[in-house]
Amino acid sequence: LGRKISPEEQPWCLDKVTGKVVISKGLENICIDKSTICYIDGFHSKLYYRGYSIEDLAKNSTYEETVYLILYGKLPTRRELNDFSGWMREERDIPREVVELLAKIPRDIEPMEMLRTAVSYLGNLDPGRHDMSLEGVMRKTIRLISKMPTIIAYWYRIRNGKETVYPDPRLNHAENFLYMMHGEKPEQILAKAMDVSFILYAEHEMNASAFTAVVIASTLSDYYSAIVGAIGALRGPLHGYANVEAMRQFDEIGSPENVDKWYQEYILTGKKRVMGAGHRVYKTYDPRAKIFREYAREFAERYGGRVKTYYQIADRLEGYVMKQLCETRNICTNCDFWSGIVYYAMGIPVDLYCAVFAAARTVGWSAHVVEYVTENRILRPRLYYDGEIEREYVLIENR
Ligand code: ACO
Repeated sequence: LGRKISPEEQPWCLDKVTGKVVISKGLENICIDKSTICYIDGFHSKLYYRGYSIEDLAKNSTYEETVYLILYGKLPTRRELNDFSGWMREERDIPREVVELLAKIPRDIEPMEMLRTAVSYLGNLDPGRHDMSLEGVMRKTIRLISKMPTIIAYWYRIRNGKETVYPDPRLNHAENFLYMMHGEKPEQILAKAMDVSFILYAEHEMNASAFTAVVIASTLSDYYSAIVGAIGALRGPLHGYANVEAMRQFDEIGSPENVDKWYQEYILTGKKRVMGAGHRVYKTYDPRAKIFREYAREFAERYGGRVKTYYQIADRLEGYVMKQLCETRNICTNCDFWSGIVYYAMGIPVDLYCAVFAAARTVGWSAHVVEYVTENRILRPRLYYDGEIEREYVLIENR
């Protein structure tokens, strides 16, 4: 028989005042570092990047400018922005080897799995892949942010048996993405909505995927490993893939009239969670959801059809969530509830939504990697050991 070890033998797990074991399951409310990148006020529906509110950025900024802001900590001058946007445009194209790889990847795999593979391979081809200096990481960040939409658009076209559309340097980041997807210049309102979606998804403090990136970087591993790890973390339905699952949930509901029945059958009984609702930090409405929701409403009116049906289902379901889950339990709709309808109006297939999210969020992941590694300490939490020690080893023939 072994021996169970007492809490006193694991003092690192004990509360200093009460002496009781403290488990921070999910690391809720644990601050692992200081940061100047992002502030979320989850009680007042506020989100700031480098001190600027998300509402101001969505209204007045562009993705390129927001990337500059997140990476360099200040708004650029016009000249700095021109240079920076030019750099991003120059980096859009992807190496021939990556295009060949995209052609070989099984067409029925999840786009996030494709992205993980393509980004990893891009890293293999980067001669500066082990350069973790500030300049080195910044250079890789700009390259990757610029190339990810190209990877997604090329993959989308390849899997549909269409010719890839080469990036157009005359177009901004968001316009160019839609252009590479569909082979024609997008309507201005759609390009603007895509630009805003990239801004809204660009950064969100120490979420699961950013944490994954920082954990990997904290071992002094390489940049691409950190980003590939973050892609893997974002791909889960409790995190970034919720924008795909939210759309599948609307499909399952089928029509606005079915919302009541579906809600009673699955949510009230606890059989399912509302996808695109609840958040570890927001205990009120997600400010990004408000902006996405407004675009979804506008597009439902403008385009009608399926976009309108999705909007009506979402609107009705949100009514239940806000009344029954948000008011009483602080489980309110989040950005992933609404973003999919906006992407759907742009003609983007549902399974790509998390990959689009990843393309935007790479900037946040990169900023956190840079910030953390600048004053690095390996991330290494503990577990409370609840098993036995000193068990007698019995030879296999005697078991
Ligand atoms: N629908 C119904 N009930 C919910 C939901 C939901 N969407 N989210 C949480 N709850 C309930 C849980 O069932 C649990 O109830 P219980 O105490 O009776 O067991 C309680 O609220 C607490 O849930 P936790 O999972 O402990 O909350 P946590 O903070 O760990 O999880 C999370 C946050 C993962 C986002 C959760 O709310 C969820 O699963 N939401 C659905 C998926 C989703 O939308 N994810 C996107 C998040 S935003 C982003 O990553 C971009």
